[in-house]
Amino acid sequence: MSSLIPPHRTWEERDRSAVLHPFLPDSQPRRVVMVEGEGCVLRDAEGREYLDATAGMWLCQVGHGRPEIAEAAARQMRRMEYSTAFWDFTHDRAISLAERLVGLAPPGTGRAFFTSGGSEGTETALRMARNFHHRRGAPDRTWVLTRTGAYHGAGYASGELSDFPPYASGFGPQPGHVHRLTAPYPYVHARSSGRAGNEDVTAFCLRELEETIHRIGSHRIAALIGEPVLALGGMVAPPPDYWPRVAELLRAHGILLIMDEVVTAFGRTGSWYAAGEMGVRPDLTVLSKGLTSGYFPLGAVLLTHEIADVLGADGGYPVGHTYSAHPTGCAVAEANLDIIERESLLAAAWTVGSRIATGLAPLLDLPLVGEVRQHGMMIGIEVVADQELGRPLPHGTYALADLIRDRTGVLVRGGPRALTLAPPLVMTAQEADRVSAALVEVLTEHAVTVSRATDPVPAS
Ligand SMILES: Cc1ncc(COP(=O)(O)O)c(C=O)c1O
Repeated sequence: MSSLIPPHRTWEERDRSAVLHPFLPDSQPRRVVMVEGEGCVLRDAEGREYLDATAGMWLCQVGHGRPEIAEAAARQMRRMEYSTAFWDFTHDRAISLAERLVGLAPPGTGRAFFTSGGSEGTETALRMARNFHHRRGAPDRTWVLTRTGAYHGAGYASGELSDFPPYASGFGPQPGHVHRLTAPYPYVHARSSGRAGNEDVTAFCLRELEETIHRIGSHRIAALIGEPVLALGGMVAPPPDYWPRVAELLRAHGILLIMDEVVTAFGRTGSWYAAGEMGVRPDLTVLSKGLTSGYFPLGAVLLTHEIADVLGADGGYPVGHTYSAHPTGCAVAEANLDIIERESLLAAAWTVGSRIATGLAPLLDLPLVGEVRQHGMMIGIEVVADQELGRPLPHGTYALADLIRDRTGVLVRGGPRALTLAPPLVMTAQEADRVSAALVEVLTEHAVTVSRATDPVPAS
């Protein structure tokens, strides 16, 4: 077979014919072929270095290329690479990790159910919420409330829970019984005249939630799912009173709260889980990404005692996945959590995150930047077409992210409104300064180019 591959084909050429990528049209021939990583630096096949302010897909808390995690994986693979967690089979790795995850969670958290990633986790949480109500004699509780700007995954149900236009059409019917509420986005709320009057953003969202519960009927609603801090939605933290008030209202109506902590957990906001720091105790918590820092695809759903006991009764919970509680993944997760603990990375999220945000302050002088916001190691730069209304650029910030990468080698992520940063928690002060300097340099230059392009033609 290999003789069919013409000699001297580049990685780019081979990729174009062999790999189908998410969100990459065939008309775009260029590839960035990454081959190595260490700390916050990734290196491509041509030897070019990139400073990774995205931590991969917002997951690599402990930085790239950590030998102790590789060794933990190799040790576990030599001992027992895989064994199932179906039926009465279990293993020491799953037990140890589950105890640890539950131990870090707020009181009331009972057990962990393992998945292979974030989408599988949110799908699982949704199934669990509906099944919980069904088993308790409330089978009509099938509706799920989700929010604007949310991203909860790429499956059919998790895709519908996401406010992500590419998933909304072209794939046939969606599962349904999903209603989308407004998520608090203080920057946008302050500029949306007429809708809210003088109501603050929490009051607006609470009123909308209350009206929605009334309209659909609490007896038909299973759960509300939300990210403690919107990630893909632009790294937007809610006002401090938002989640406690939402949780209280849901509880009063018997509606479960599913916290999607796929991005926020394991130090990204400075805590093991962001919900605790925001004063709420979710019924179900979805974890992935930072759980293994991306060294192995693993996720988990944490359940309260009450939900675990209901799902565990009468024949048990009837859903499973081949790779659930993969022993190698569990060993990797524990090695990763050891590093987060040993190197005090929870605290680093705020020190380094604040340093980057301070370095980005000059951006506020640019007409192109509406806001720089930071919550731990989640940073969003609101890029706007106009300051007064805060309208986003017509095609989002994707091209700007590419420009920053090409000019400076700093990796940030584009989005529909904001440029987003979520660096590894091990980022040094020097690297943090390089990240902010790169962004200031490129955006300042870009602002000048844009203003020149839109300057009126001088009268002759
Ligand atoms: C908040 C959130 N939930 C769920 C997911 C889906 O996770 P995965 O891509 O591992 O399926 C993501 C992915 O970025 C996410 O950001």
